[in-house]
Amino acid sequence: MTDPLIAAAVHAREHAHAPFSKFKVGAAVEDQSGHIHSGCNIENATYGLTLCAERVAIFKAISEGARRFRRVAVVADTENLTPPCGACRQILWEFCGDIEIVLANVSGQTETLRLGTLFPRAFDASFL
Ligand code: THU
Repeated sequence: MTDPLIAAAVHAREHAHAPFSKFKVGAAVEDQSGHIHSGCNIENATYGLTLCAERVAIFKAISEGARRFRRVAVVADTENLTPPCGACRQILWEFCGDIEIVLANVSGQTETLRLGTLFPRAFDASFL
């Protein structure tokens, strides 16, 4: 049976607005109550204003009142599973800490790891 978190990310990916890179990404985050919030990448003609799928998903969740998270899934159509970019790692760390991250592709391959592995010795509010 497909993990519903991955299924949500796969579904969100179908809404990706990626006319410039053609690289579609979907993400989904599961909050403390089990609710799933999803997002896709949304590109912009200025390029720099592009938002990654992970940030769209987490910002949607925050804006809907979620504050604690269990897992994040990221889905793209790559053989080498696509990890969150550096900016998204910082944002995910800020809101989710050392959360479980499920990387997946549209062929059904998956890998589960923790954010702390991808983003060691992060800067966060504990330094302020
Ligand atoms: N992208 C994501 O949405 N998430 C990632 O983890 C990697 C990159 C998007 C940003 C841009 O729209 C496209 O993929 C190519 O970089």
